[in-house]
Amino acid sequence: MDSIHIHGGIALQGQVHIQGSKNAALPVLAATLLTAERSYIRNCPRIADVHAMVSLLKKLGCHVSWREDGLQVDSAEVSLGAMQGEAVKGMRSSLCLLGALLGRCGEAVLEHPGGCVIGERPIDLHLRALEQMGVTFSEGKGMIRGAARRLHGARIELPLPSVGATENIILAGVLAEGDTCIIGAAKEPEITALCRYLQNCGASIEGTGTDRLLIHGGTRLRGADFTVPPDRIVAGTYLMACIGTGGCILLEGAPAGEMADVLKAASQMGASCWVTEEGICMQASGFPRPVERLVTMPYPGFPTDLQSAALAVLAAAEGQSIVEERIFENRFRVAEELNRMGARIEQVDAHMAVVHGAGKLHGAEVEAKELRGGAALVIAGLMAQGETKVTGCPYIYRGYENICKDFRELGARIASV
Ligand code: EPU
Repeated sequence: MDSIHIHGGIALQGQVHIQGSKNAALPVLAATLLTAERSYIRNCPRIADVHAMVSLLKKLGCHVSWREDGLQVDSAEVSLGAMQGEAVKGMRSSLCLLGALLGRCGEAVLEHPGGCVIGERPIDLHLRALEQMGVTFSEGKGMIRGAARRLHGARIELPLPSVGATENIILAGVLAEGDTCIIGAAKEPEITALCRYLQNCGASIEGTGTDRLLIHGGTRLRGADFTVPPDRIVAGTYLMACIGTGGCILLEGAPAGEMADVLKAASQMGASCWVTEEGICMQASGFPRPVERLVTMPYPGFPTDLQSAALAVLAAAEGQSIVEERIFENRFRVAEELNRMGARIEQVDAHMAVVHGAGKLHGAEVEAKELRGGAALVIAGLMAQGETKVTGCPYIYRGYENICKDFRELGARIASV
């Protein structure tokens, strides 16, 4: 299933159910290590990154099994081992195991997750914060070793609202001695989801959803039931595809409340969206409109994870758009592939691209080089006239449970081969 074949040019119609969120599920799965009791994580997406996290938990001695609507995790016995291999290097979320293992075992050994094609992705904020909580790190042979004789709370000021660093501090903080205060915490809904799971387990966390979190550490946690919220990025991907193809769809279960800036951008691009009890309904205008300036920002701003999808749609608008990427320095790699489909995207520097809307795209053979850029190529293929072949699709399956089936339900001619 390395490639996806698309016969483009069909307006999407109908309704599609939105899967559980990848970036909420992964830290919650890491957090199951913090209790010796059984947890049940419902609505967990069956995607490659979740399978990788499951394999890491199993390696640590947890009993993990898929049930009908989710994952059961029993972490009664945890045996500390070095976390390494593709599941660690290829998946940034493996870094959450650092905070969780330090909380549970007082030590952790993890292969350095390294950079990736969307940017350098340093981990200095994670390490510095955990050091403030009493952890000593050593690095060698590509491995990071952390150990704390006494993990304790701290007052941590984050210079930028890193999602992963906020998650790691929370994970380490709930079992640490005393209080941990995070100032400048990330406010992404996935962090709120992690806090909710931990609160279900008995943790005391104040300020959820704000940039100031207070974690009262040291409470013994019980197991809990938790339902992973719907994936706002998957919903946004399908929404962009609808705008690009001039369709009319219902995104069933889409978390509209977390998508205000995405809906604002959709309206600028010419779509009418309205929220119902079932999700988000949308009617595209036929042809996408250019936008003066689309800027990615930490939540609640326009998400970097949807920037590539928007780029694909704007590439087919008539007129010029400016897209500014403020989170990662290498998110425009997909522009080269989109240009092979007739787009005219000019990358000014690492953070800005000018899209000279080409009016239409044509099919081509293109390569996915990372997850969200890959999804953008699928959108471009749906919009384009003729046949598109997207290779490198294992990247896409890291985050999308059933992208081809979902688009087929909306009337597209698309298949994974
Ligand atoms: N940063 C540092 N030092 C650090 C950590 C981050 O300089 O120690 C910088 C990064 O280089 C980046 C910025 O801070 O420029 C933001 O990074 P952040 O830590 O917030 O991102 P992340 O935790 O690595 C998560 C999501 C990403 C999403 C970003 C931003 C997960 C597993 N990943 O990454 O999602 O783009 O937040 O919202 O939750 C994806 O799903 O495809 C994906 C990449």
